[in-house]
Amino acid sequence: MATTRTFKVWRGDAKGGDFKQYDIQVDDGMVVLDVLHRIQAQQAQDLALRWNCKAGKCGSCSMEINGKPKLACMTRMNSLPEGETVTVQPLKTFPVMKDLVTDVSWNYAQNKRIPKFKPRPRDPDGKYRMYQEDVDRVQEFRKCIECFLCQDVCHVLRDRDGREQNTFVGPRFMIRVASLEMHPLDTADRIPAVKDEFGSGMCNITKCCSEVCPEHIHITDNGIIPLKERVVDRFYDPVAMLWRKIFGDKRA
Ligand code: SF4
Ligand code: F3S
Ligand code: FES
Repeated sequence: MATTRTFKVWRGDAKGGDFKQYDIQVDDGMVVLDVLHRIQAQQAQDLALRWNCKAGKCGSCSMEINGKPKLACMTRMNSLPEGETVTVQPLKTFPVMKDLVTDVSWNYAQNKRIPKFKPRPRDPDGKYRMYQEDVDRVQEFRKCIECFLCQDVCHVLRDRDGREQNTFVGPRFMIRVASLEMHPLDTADRIPAVKDEFGSGMCNITKCCSEVCPEHIHITDNGIIPLKERVVDRFYDPVAMLWRKIFGDKRA
């Protein structure tokens, strides 16, 4: 059944802006992205927003809906409180370009800081061999669609200057590091950088990132905490430190 709903959509650019109200017909089965497209078609042709797949797979329609980081294409209208105004605004952690579009290029710059995959030599028969359980472990991290909702919600990037000062790469890139560090073929050592450059100590395990991830990646439990443990083992475990001193094995 069609109903009229009130939307408050943030309109503006880098210089500033405000919420603008739109009363719009909503049909059964619509998601927030459908409603924004209808607003665009009928009332605000110049409304700027990003989208591509409409299937929760491209990660481009990230925004804040009723104050929560979400994908607009995966947020069903019937999941929002009936009869209440729906507020839609751009991701708060990143600079606004126009309306609902933010500049997320900072994230791509973080990605470039991470040392790339460095595989060990092939076996004598020219093949690579891996245990299935080792492959399964990193497979979860490969589901990331780079929507940056986790980056948006993380308070270290949002409120604590982690982004401006490049002190923390953020949850998305901690799981990228984890996917490389736990890869059964990889030989690069990123643990010193995890501690000193990527800011593992800045994360205080609030787990907000894991809660908003549309791919349900266990960012904190399976990615960040194991990386923190590797840092502790390497730099703060006295037994491991003594072992390294005696045997000179930096990865003990
Ligand atoms: Fe999005 Fe999840 Fe990837 Fe973060 S980890 S960018 S929330 S898919
Ligand atoms: Fe941020 Fe997630 Fe850690 S929200 S503080 S990266 S647990
Ligand atoms: Fe691709 Fe929403 S449009 S994730």
